[in-house]
Amino acid sequence: MISRLISRVMPSSPICVTGGSGFLGSWCIKLLLEDGHTVHTTTRSAKKAAYLMNLPGASERLKVFEGVDLLSPGSFDDAIGGCETVLHTASPFYMKGGSEDKLVKPAVDGTQNVLSSCQKLGVKKVVLTSSTGSVYVNYGAVPAKHVYTADDWSPADLLREKENWYCLSKVLAEQTAWKMSKDPACPFKLTVLLPTLILGPMVPGQPHLNTSASALVGYMDGSLGEIENACKTVVDVRDVARAHLEAAYREVGGERILLIGGSPHFQEVAGYIKEALPEEMKGRVPSKVSETLGPAVMGPAPPQPVLYDVSPAEKLLDIRFNSVETMVKTMVQSMLDNGFKSSEQYVPSNM
Ligand SMILES: NC(=O)c1ccc[n+]([C@@H]2O[C@H](COP(=O)([O-])OP(=O)(O)OC[C@H]3O[C@@H](n4cnc5c(N)ncnc54)[C@H](OP(=O)(O)O)[C@@H]3O)[C@@H](O)[C@H]2O)c1
Repeated sequence: MISRLISRVMPSSPICVTGGSGFLGSWCIKLLLEDGHTVHTTTRSAKKAAYLMNLPGASERLKVFEGVDLLSPGSFDDAIGGCETVLHTASPFYMKGGSEDKLVKPAVDGTQNVLSSCQKLGVKKVVLTSSTGSVYVNYGAVPAKHVYTADDWSPADLLREKENWYCLSKVLAEQTAWKMSKDPACPFKLTVLLPTLILGPMVPGQPHLNTSASALVGYMDGSLGEIENACKTVVDVRDVARAHLEAAYREVGGERILLIGGSPHFQEVAGYIKEALPEEMKGRVPSKVSETLGPAVMGPAPPQPVLYDVSPAEKLLDIRFNSVETMVKTMVQSMLDNGFKSSEQYVPSNM
């Protein structure tokens, strides 16, 4: 209801999406092109982003800026120039083989670089992709029955102690962004989105097996052996991308907004994977649930779900979340369509 009272104005200048080659960034671009916008996007690798030019409208309205690295000050200036709106999705996302230097430094220095360009160039609206990694990863420090909201923060000291570099990268990058946005001379309003593990379809032609898709591939090729004994929060990539666009279009600013579509046990997820696979692959999906519980980083022990409140996303951004069944089945189908069937195709160092 409240959403009807929030005015929605389509930006008339181009919109910049950092990290357009990524699983989420590509969906933001696809939806922006469908809404009729001109889009600028950044990548380090022209090859990795080439598939974006097949999106409808891309040849007329998408400009890809290559060789743009989060670690190079000023390297986003050309892409952000002329844009009043920036969706900052680029950030390294992987766990295996990560370190403070590989994950935290590019996320934090990169946010500083991107937002410095936004300040210098007079950007009016920034939407930053943070994560529930910045909200609820507390290793049991918060009671299991707690209902998570955007008021919660993962404790940075504990993440450092646990060497959870990815989640630390999201907390510190987000804190950097809030600090910069509160400078009285800052020209932009900031909205921070907090998606959880993102499932749903890849854009056709995505050439890399991204980290959240890799969460399912071990079930598809049988390498996992047993179903994880865990309830994980998940969300559909199309809902996350739409939330980025709505946060850019609407008269919002200053909020953190949690994006979660469900908290299924992975036995349910494995069932949907099996249903989505062709007959000859169904037998690879494990059927036995592991007796070992996954590491307790948030929420109650499975099969109890993690509790959360996403009413701000529904009210402020008018998001209606896709079901777990939809996001799992569409992700599996798109992985098959894009040629991803094996865990060996996942290369974290390419992210
Ligand atoms: N997928 C999830 O489950 C999930 C959940 C919560 C939050 N998020 C957040 O959503 C965002 C997108 O994630 P994703 O799943 O789409 O990951 P992804 O497919 O791995 O994409 C990551 C993007 O970040 C860019 N990037 C990484 N390091 C960079 C660097 N040093 N310089 C410039 N660009 C760099 C990559 O661009 P190039 O390689 O083309 O340069 C790529 O486009 C990230 O901020 C991530 O933390 C993801």
